[in-house]
Amino acid sequence: MPNPIKINASILCADFTKLGDEIKRCEDAGVDMFHVDVMDGHFVPNITVGQIIVQAVRSVTKLPIEAHLMIEHPGMYIDSFAEAGADIISIQAECYGQLRPQCRGLGQFPKEVDSIDAARAGKDILRIKEKGKRAFMVLNPGTPLCVDALLNDLDGVMIMSVNPGFARQKFMPAAIPRIQDLRRKFSGDIEVDGGVNEVTAPEAVKAGANILATASYFFGASRPRDVVYFLKRLGER
Ligand code: DX5
Ligand code: ZN
Repeated sequence: MPNPIKINASILCADFTKLGDEIKRCEDAGVDMFHVDVMDGHFVPNITVGQIIVQAVRSVTKLPIEAHLMIEHPGMYIDSFAEAGADIISIQAECYGQLRPQCRGLGQFPKEVDSIDAARAGKDILRIKEKGKRAFMVLNPGTPLCVDALLNDLDGVMIMSVNPGFARQKFMPAAIPRIQDLRRKFSGDIEVDGGVNEVTAPEAVKAGANILATASYFFGASRPRDVVYFLKRLGER
């Protein structure tokens, strides 16, 4: 049985002046979960939100919340995001390896590695689980699929289909064979994040993705319910 398709609304494109109403609008449209993009200005070239927004979202919905931690030293923040109410904590593989020389410095992006220290990453995965949460590992587009040693411990793997930092970027087609390769060896959740829309989502699902994170496509739609209906049906083909 393939994993059912889940629509994960990334609140990065929500109207933060009325976040509660926006969450309700997502629920009415039928989304399955919420994705909070946490950016620190060091791991990615942008700064967004943190635990207090996870907490605010938690107070108005019972749906699962994913904290996508695009931050350095994610291990330092697992407990606080868990306590804020995140159900999935997604940590970036690049935080556990030797950064490539061209992205080692302050302000050099995207962050990429060739391999990771599985023991160090494993400790943070374990910590997420000890807190009773689900652990996802995220791979930037330039980082190879280097998490084989951790697949048994992970609940999910998120394939970035854009370099992280901003919404409204174009889907990188190289994500598709990466999803296919991963699906051959991993039966857990495979999430795709970045540039998901009516053209790219069918390809990602066909390749084996079952969680679709979307910010601009979903929040930009005049009929968000139709977007959810369309995306969820991709799993039935
Ligand atoms: C990018 C974020 C994504 C982003 C997706 O750094 O991790 O979650 O919000 O935005 P869209 O769906 O507009 O590409
Ligand atoms: Zn994200």
